[in-house]
Amino acid sequence: MTRACRVSTSIVLFSALVLTTPAVTRAQGSLNVYCSVQAEWCQAIANEFQRQTGVRVGLTLKGSGETLAQVTAESANPKGDVWFGGTGDPHLAAAEQNLTVAYKSPNLDKLHDWALQQARQSGFKTVGIYAGALGFGYNPELLQKRKLAPPACWKDLVKPEYRDEIQVANPNSSGTAYTAIATIVQLFGEEDAFRYLRQLHRNVNQYTRSGVGPIKAVARGETSVSISFMHDGVTEAVAGFPVKIQAPCEGTGYEVGSLSIIKGARNLEGARKFVDWALTPQAQKLGAEAKQFQVPSNREAQLPPQAPKFAEIKLISYDFAKYGASAERKRLLDRWEREVNSQPK
Ligand code: F6P
Repeated sequence: MTRACRVSTSIVLFSALVLTTPAVTRAQGSLNVYCSVQAEWCQAIANEFQRQTGVRVGLTLKGSGETLAQVTAESANPKGDVWFGGTGDPHLAAAEQNLTVAYKSPNLDKLHDWALQQARQSGFKTVGIYAGALGFGYNPELLQKRKLAPPACWKDLVKPEYRDEIQVANPNSSGTAYTAIATIVQLFGEEDAFRYLRQLHRNVNQYTRSGVGPIKAVARGETSVSISFMHDGVTEAVAGFPVKIQAPCEGTGYEVGSLSIIKGARNLEGARKFVDWALTPQAQKLGAEAKQFQVPSNREAQLPPQAPKFAEIKLISYDFAKYGASAERKRLLDRWEREVNSQPK
């Protein structure tokens, strides 16, 4: 199943397992999980948590920005219990707006410091479950046909020869694309960053809704280059598509994919149980099994060998406090809409 299928898809899994598991694990209620990773991983966590606990899992699959918008819209009458995955910035914005609640899982001390830092920063209203670095994906066959060199640096993407060759998501719906804007602002300074984004706009053939849309388009040969999380490029390459990834030479940002309990959760006990479980190495290995190559947050969870190595990537010191703040997020998105997206090419 592709990530495209996840948009606005609401899947309630009433597995036959619930009917066949012993009475002790039966009738444990249900849990609505808003899921912002790829569909294969969402399905795997839903199936496994349901199998182990008897709690029926309902899944809603949407991107990070879209889920923040949904949780905000539903705040008077919340329908979700937990929000699994998606970039950390909107989880921090949700925490700041009191859309999520604090929970100190007993498993916090098993996590890498970057995941714990995400928890501390939010007053324990969210926690890191994985990390991933931003970069480019490209289709070498298509680039060769077009006689184009693979991009190595952010500055390459605005060259005239890449006109209409690049895809990136829309930062309103996609956390990947918001991470890209925040990264470019942190690398070049805001004025130069917006000048850059206006130049890039000329080379972008489509702003997709979901963050993985562009790398899937690269894989299918529909666009030569994408701005994507590098681990999503690995997923396509492992599936056999002609996709290569590149870490930008100037440096790049990264995400701390996060997990939050939604304020007003109808099944708060189930939500806490889910968080405890999702932070274990056993639950985190479901990501790699679903061919997802982020860095897991539990120190004992194994890094899949194909995963991009953080030590080999020039990472910026991404300011999560600043770019996860609601006002800054809204300001940058409004500016992007006004000065970039609404402009002719
Ligand atoms: O599931 C792949 C992934 O890249 C995650 O690592 C990330 O948190 C999420 O997608 C972001 O999705 P979107 O850009 O659609 O919000």
